[in-house]
Amino acid sequence: MTSAIQSPLQKHLENEVQTALPVDTSGPYTVTDISLAEAGEARVSWARSRMPALAALRAAAESEKPLTGQRVAGCLHVTKETAVLIETLRAAGAEVSWSGCNPLSTQDDVAAWLAREGYDIHAWYGQSTEEFYRCIDRTLELRPTLTLDDGADLIYRVHSDFPQLADGILGGTEETTTGVIRLRAMAEAGELLYPVIAVNDAATKWDFDNVHGTGQSTLDGIIRATSVLLAGKDFVVAGYGHCGRGLAARARGMGANVIVTEVDPLPALRAVMDGFRVMRMDEAATLGDIFCTATGMKDVIVGRHFDSMKDGAIVCNTGHYDCEISIPDLEKRSTDCRTIRENNEAFRMEDGRTIHLLARGRLVNLAAAEGHPSEVMDMSFANQFLALCRLASEGGGYDNRVYDISPEQDTELAALKLKTAGISIDELTPEQISYLSDFRAGT
Ligand code: NAI
Repeated sequence: MTSAIQSPLQKHLENEVQTALPVDTSGPYTVTDISLAEAGEARVSWARSRMPALAALRAAAESEKPLTGQRVAGCLHVTKETAVLIETLRAAGAEVSWSGCNPLSTQDDVAAWLAREGYDIHAWYGQSTEEFYRCIDRTLELRPTLTLDDGADLIYRVHSDFPQLADGILGGTEETTTGVIRLRAMAEAGELLYPVIAVNDAATKWDFDNVHGTGQSTLDGIIRATSVLLAGKDFVVAGYGHCGRGLAARARGMGANVIVTEVDPLPALRAVMDGFRVMRMDEAATLGDIFCTATGMKDVIVGRHFDSMKDGAIVCNTGHYDCEISIPDLEKRSTDCRTIRENNEAFRMEDGRTIHLLARGRLVNLAAAEGHPSEVMDMSFANQFLALCRLASEGGGYDNRVYDISPEQDTELAALKLKTAGISIDELTPEQISYLSDFRAGT
């Protein structure tokens, strides 16, 4: 919470965060409760069985050890899928230290399993902002040679507080759209101290994880926090980019009447042609039963929107940071706040209406559900693994800027994913290949 005077509502939220502890610091880790490890193990084995592309890369890496001598510091949601990535990095020869990239996304049983397996893990669900950064700092004690981010908080911490570490870092990777935007801005300003690979922008990540993963898991989070019936509801999606597109399609599939808000004419037009109603948030605010922001932008839902919402409206966010919904504006207008069920806070407005805020405005799919399904994280993390291997072998030769995943890696990974799913596709014949460059061929 950011406003200077603490309201009763702020106190309510902060007390909730504090009661989510205590934290177990009895070993070389910081997790909620090491005894949760067994439950974590079961979850991780479920994820492992659904991540065949990463498993294939791991099988090769176990003998080749492409990350021998590398120390990887990671800052990414501690989920069952992330645990499979972490064990793959170790199998490839790396030492690993890890923290979560969101105060409300760590799966405590998975963190406990990682701690029991001897990983350097500092993460728990319900951290304060200060604890969040303290955990990142603990991972940097490893003096990493490679960094892995989801949102660029770790890399920014290196730049702002530990710049002396940058000389020893070959490069970093970035998992999400918001992080890539931050890093490109740093590179543009000439402030990036080491090269970064934009894993998010790979076709095998952005077009699958963000679209299918966020689409499904965001609905999962909304349903777990509300058990609301989606059929017949007016469902407002702010942002028709990758995440918004996936979410809008799935909400429609559940019978909701989807409304899209946008600031960019091209995605707005795409939404129109995909059959959605498109309008300004000022208008949508009066119509929606459920609102979900997916923009990566701040202040998408603000005071005047809360003023015109229906009684009982549900508001949540699936973008990376919790700045898309102005919680201070919501607090200013409310007289009371109480927890209705987990990740569902009811704000009573001065005029008697109630507005429900899910997961305190944090990404609802990770705070209120389990994040993306393993099948889609398989590709995202295979990309992460390949990018780190590339930095380990070639990183010294790169400039301090943001690099894309090569189209060849995208194609190879898509082929691997199809192969592991037992799906075969046709191949171009030699005649078809020459037809591609035969400008003489016509009607
Ligand atoms: P994108 O760039 O594909 O789409 C964002 C869209 O939001 C763009 O079309 C943009 O024009 C629109 N937009 C920007 N400001 C807006 C405003 N004020 N009102 C309405 N629309 C606005 O980005 P992508 O990949 O869809 O990511 C969106 C956010 O979700 C980012 O913060 C990203 O980091 C995060 N993300 C979250 C995930 C999750 O698990 N919840 C997974 C992947 C990404």
